Amino acid sequence: MINLNKIKPFAEGGNRRCFIHPEKENRCLKITFMGRSKILKQNAPWYKQLRSEESFDDNLREKNGYSQRALQINDPYKWKHLAIWYGMVETSIGQASETELIKDRKNNIAITLEKYLLTYGMTAEIKQAILDLESWLRYTLILTKDILPHNIVVSDKDDRLVLKIVDGLGLKSFLPFARIHDFFAKRYIEKRIKRMHARISWDLSGRKGNWK
Ligand SMILES: Nc1ncnc2c1ncn2[C@@H]1O[C@H](COP(=O)(O)OP(=O)(O)OP(=O)(O)O)[C@@H](O)[C@H]1O
Ligand SMILES: [Mg+2]
Repeated sequence: MINLNKIKPFAEGGNRRCFIHPEKENRCLKITFMGRSKILKQNAPWYKQLRSEESFDDNLREKNGYSQRALQINDPYKWKHLAIWYGMVETSIGQASETELIKDRKNNIAITLEKYLLTYGMTAEIKQAILDLESWLRYTLILTKDILPHNIVVSDKDDRLVLKIVDGLGLKSFLPFARIHDFFAKRYIEKRIKRMHARISWDLSGRKGNWK
């Protein structure tokens, strides 16, 4: 079992704490906050409350997201814009989802797209990186929930900026057709791309009004 008792998380989101793997410096371990699934279920709309508490666990959702059809194919291009997933592991503070830790060329943990945009704005390099991400989504048909700038990190290891999704895989809503038919998957992805731009504009405008 991996001991995380004395280790501080390097980041945390609304649902999980993220640790650097104590034995593998290029891996990230994510652990859901205790009791988080229960709270999420309690706050969900009535039709989602019919689902089990477990289904509100971000780690379980991630596991399901990584098992989607588009990620079963044996093509390394699928990892171009996505943190590699290594499965679930037992730690001293609970089950963790183990993924690739995305770093920059100085070996620091990569910053989020949100931080990048708030610091540097919509530069030509990041515009190109967003276009690359869009092409990848359209080609691979990998299904994600809404693509939010705080769930993407910016790597500069190559000679250009590369965006990597670190959270939010899977389907946004109960849309089994998108899971089965490319036609629906394509439509679903176009909607996610449109909403990603809406969210980026909202972030850049100082978050006035509603982004959706
Ligand atoms: N694989 C990774 N490589 C580098 N940084 C990461 C990685 N995974 C997560 N992070 C950082 O940790 C933060 C929180 O992680 P994550 O988004 O998975 O948590 P969460 O609680 O599920 O988020 P949310 O609030 O969106 O539900 C991210 O915003 C990012 O800054
Ligand atoms: Mg997140």
